[in-house]
Amino acid sequence: MSELRNDRYLRALLREPVDKTPVWVMRQAGRYLPEYREVRAKAGDFMTLCSTPDLACEVTLQPLRRFELDAAIIFSDILTIPDAMGLGLHFVAGEGPKFTKPIQSAADIAKLGVPDMASELRYVMDAISVTRRELNGDVPLIGFSGSPWTLACYMVEGGASKDFGKVKGMMFDAPEQMHKLLDIMAQSVTAYLNAQIAAGAQSVMLFDTWGGTLSTRDYQQFSLAYMQQIISGLTRESEGRKVPVTVFTKGGGQWLPLIAAVGCDAVGVDWTTDLSVAREAVNGKVALQGNMDPCVLYANKARIEQEVASVLASFGEGEGHVFNLGHGIHPTIDPDHMGCLIDAVHNLSVPYHQG
Ligand code: CP3
Repeated sequence: MSELRNDRYLRALLREPVDKTPVWVMRQAGRYLPEYREVRAKAGDFMTLCSTPDLACEVTLQPLRRFELDAAIIFSDILTIPDAMGLGLHFVAGEGPKFTKPIQSAADIAKLGVPDMASELRYVMDAISVTRRELNGDVPLIGFSGSPWTLACYMVEGGASKDFGKVKGMMFDAPEQMHKLLDIMAQSVTAYLNAQIAAGAQSVMLFDTWGGTLSTRDYQQFSLAYMQQIISGLTRESEGRKVPVTVFTKGGGQWLPLIAAVGCDAVGVDWTTDLSVAREAVNGKVALQGNMDPCVLYANKARIEQEVASVLASFGEGEGHVFNLGHGIHPTIDPDHMGCLIDAVHNLSVPYHQG
């Protein structure tokens, strides 16, 4: 494999010195880019886009052609695992993801097995190898998965949900059943991320989008414990380099010390927690990723620069910060505003790395 020309992102995750704060953006490949919408329209549906390695590679690279991003994230979705388990994933315009066969009973859970990475999810690994080849050592490639709890939310609810009544109902009414489901998801996610690392992912991230809807005790038992189980089973070195692991629990700001203790290298933070507070909470144990409110990108460029400056200042001097939004970029953002964000992070962060 070729040398990595820009390894700022990997270095920052490991709290090593960098010249500027690295930046990438959740959902950086997506609907706010006209060139994405064009390829998406040609592909017909979203899963065809994900499962055609050349197309997935093309949309992964699109934002890197426009912006000086410090990492690429493989274009895919967290719902590929439940799809491979046979739940029948499809997307309904305006309503988001749906499953034709959601998990409704102990019998449904008993039928689930760990998907075969070399066949059922092979398209993801192929997309990763094609993309690594095309990146040719420019920036690192991030692999990812949903957390077991977040995947279970979609699998039991059958799609998006406002109150999570079904999945939480199962958790409270039949906890042993929920644990069975989460355990099979954790085994699947471990195998999935290890296959992504073997295919060329240079860092991996767990998206725990719905962990923040739980009580502290339930978060520890039903979400964090399974992320810890996954992390302890991951390949941590590949191609002679460490493979950093990032955990992002949206709404997890009050649990940062707990999250920092599960063996990850970095913790994602949403905008509701100030990075100075987050930094104190993790006490040098892990790097932090985040955390500008995605809606700042609706403002004018001067205001965007001002907010970038304030996020950089809240982390302060020293190593261990990867700049990102606190959640995915919205589809109606002007791409020029994204460019303004990326340039501002690089230009304004230099003074924080001269010690
Ligand atoms: O970050 C990236 O650029 C990589 C690609 C990526 C996508 N989804 C592409 C996508 C990643 C990392 C995800 C993760 C994902 N998917 C999460 C966790 C992160 C988060 O946002 O909380 C979740 C919860 C999902 C499930 C999912 N998939 C949702 C809620 C949606 C949006 C549905 C809608 O219509 O609004 C998707 C579809 C999806 N995944 C799109 C993209 C670009 C849009 C689909 C399209 O182009 O039609």
